[in-house]
Amino acid sequence: MANKGTYYITTPIYYPSSNLHIGHTYCTVMADAMARFKRLQGYDVHFLTGTDEHGQKIQTKAEEAGVTPKEYVDNVVAGIKDLWKTMEISYDDFIRTTEPRHMERVQKIWKRMYDKGDIYKGAYEGLYCKECEAFWTETQAVNNVCPDCGRPVQHASEEAYFFKLSNYADKILKLYDEHPEFLEPETRRNEMRNFINQGLEDLCVSRCTFDWGIPVPNDPKHVMYVWVDALSNYITALGGPDDSEEFNKYWPADVHLVGKEIVRFHSIIWPAMLMSADLPLPKKVLGHGWLLLGGEKVSKSKAAKGMDVVDPVILIDRYGIDALKYFLLREYTFGQDGNFTNEVMLKRINFDLANDLGNLLSRTVSMIEKYCGGVVPQAKTHDETDEDLKNIAVSAASKVSDEMDKFAFNMALERIWTVVRRANKYIDEKAPWILAKDEAKKDELDTVMNHLAETLRIVSILIYPFMHTTSEKIRKQLGIEGDIIWEDSEVFNMMNGEQVKKGEQIFPRLDVEKELAELTKIAEEEAAKKAAGAVQDPVEKAIAESVPLKLKDEIVYGDFDKMDFRVGTILKAEKHPNADKLLVFQVKMGTEVRQVISGVADSFTPEEMVGKKVVVVANLKPRMLRGLESHGMLLFAGDDGRNFVVTTDAPDGEIVS
Ligand code: MSP
Repeated sequence: MANKGTYYITTPIYYPSSNLHIGHTYCTVMADAMARFKRLQGYDVHFLTGTDEHGQKIQTKAEEAGVTPKEYVDNVVAGIKDLWKTMEISYDDFIRTTEPRHMERVQKIWKRMYDKGDIYKGAYEGLYCKECEAFWTETQAVNNVCPDCGRPVQHASEEAYFFKLSNYADKILKLYDEHPEFLEPETRRNEMRNFINQGLEDLCVSRCTFDWGIPVPNDPKHVMYVWVDALSNYITALGGPDDSEEFNKYWPADVHLVGKEIVRFHSIIWPAMLMSADLPLPKKVLGHGWLLLGGEKVSKSKAAKGMDVVDPVILIDRYGIDALKYFLLREYTFGQDGNFTNEVMLKRINFDLANDLGNLLSRTVSMIEKYCGGVVPQAKTHDETDEDLKNIAVSAASKVSDEMDKFAFNMALERIWTVVRRANKYIDEKAPWILAKDEAKKDELDTVMNHLAETLRIVSILIYPFMHTTSEKIRKQLGIEGDIIWEDSEVFNMMNGEQVKKGEQIFPRLDVEKELAELTKIAEEEAAKKAAGAVQDPVEKAIAESVPLKLKDEIVYGDFDKMDFRVGTILKAEKHPNADKLLVFQVKMGTEVRQVISGVADSFTPEEMVGKKVVVVANLKPRMLRGLESHGMLLFAGDDGRNFVVTTDAPDGEIVS
């Protein structure tokens, strides 16, 4: 296949502040379909996604959960990666902003902007939205409320670095004029023009009231503003800003797909940063609309009210990956908001997938089995109806390509379904069950079977970027072997002699009423769980969830009182000469120094144990361990190979009781 050049597509990097919902999957599903489509067209595609892990919001969330920010994000990011794996998202790279490769390279970008004279130190006075990690002026944040998310903003006053964004206002307006394709849809471009025309202020690009971020070079008490950190991911993941093979190959990006509320960052701040760092600009920023729930943006807090199930994992479990992807791509118009309800989703799956596509396949395969012994026949006759079906089928690919060029995923699918629906109508028009009754009509019957198989073969190619598993299932039932080649969807004479094999319904018909009732129940249960979690005090919650430990037999105080525990300091630690698992310690307990041996060589090096305070079972009878005496025992927590020292602040020699 001819290589048509490179194609670099990105999604936003998601905040790992909590698990993702269906609204987040929307953008990634579109990016995945586009990446698969371009690969099929012969492009060398690079598809990047990732997570945006720094910032005050994450730090606060981690504190609330009682873990470090890194522990917090590691946990959520693992869930996000699992979700993309479940959804078979074909990304080529996943960037985490906590990775060293990213952090080092962002500092280089910062340095470039600083050396250009675009970053200076000043004092920040203003309003900050923690949720959106955005600064606002008094005029923008009417009633002290963030204009993007509606949450209260906080007054912030601190020493900070600023980026001379104001210097770039004219250059960005010129960019929109000379390259209108840089920012689409047009409505977003007009919004951004208005925003800039109201006056661009310099951007505060550092914070010093928290430390979960990338340190500012040469001034590490400041961390970088999270958007400077996050936007840079698009080039750091490739090895930029310095020359590197991938960076030279794929940058500038062909398209950044982003939600409408973050278009401002991508189409004003990002190009200004790149201009300042003397780097090429991305070719296109595309702002998509939101999935709405009850008229408002789908979010975890809306979901908590329990209207519809928005957890993609639950929906995939019930209806399959391809059904969910199809629904997202078919139902919504790029750039516009659209309402999400479980009912709309179920009806779409039932009508388009179970009825139209599923039935076409199962009817075709059954008829080829029944009338042609399971073997796809050659076409032998030809009339206007055959010609019409053929024309519609072979001309679909170029129409799908045109729609994909416009990111009109819904229209691309509509073009494919025009073929599917035409084929269903063709069955009704040709009535093969009647042809089958007349031996003289055998050739005509063969033609009908051949044309249906041909049409489904074409459909299997066209749907591949959107639903590759379904495409493979269709091909398997039709006995088609070999790779999917896009150009094969423009010809109509490839099927002859394939052995068909009926399989399961690719999309079983759903009982919409029953499903709706079950989904509502699930949504309510989830909401109840969340509401309980939200109001409950964490200690009360821990008490309520407490599960008794499995312990050894109960003892009485006298048993315990027999033991003499003392605080010790490890003066010396060495490996046991005759046993790999043992460490030999010289432990000082007040006036006495003892030799004690412990089986912890898998967990500690001798060097790291020296100087540690330990608790010693001091009246334990001495015993020989591989030729050396051990007098007493040190206390450790944990299991074999994963030990933690039981330690104390008390001076050595103190009694532990
Ligand atoms: N971390 C930033 C992006 C940095 S990119 C350099 C961020 N993260 S986010 O997790 O809050 O949002 C990521 C994307 O998900 C955004 O493009 C946002 O528009 C999208 N969506 C979140 N909820 C959505 C809907 N309900 N509907 C459609 N997309 C939505 O912003």
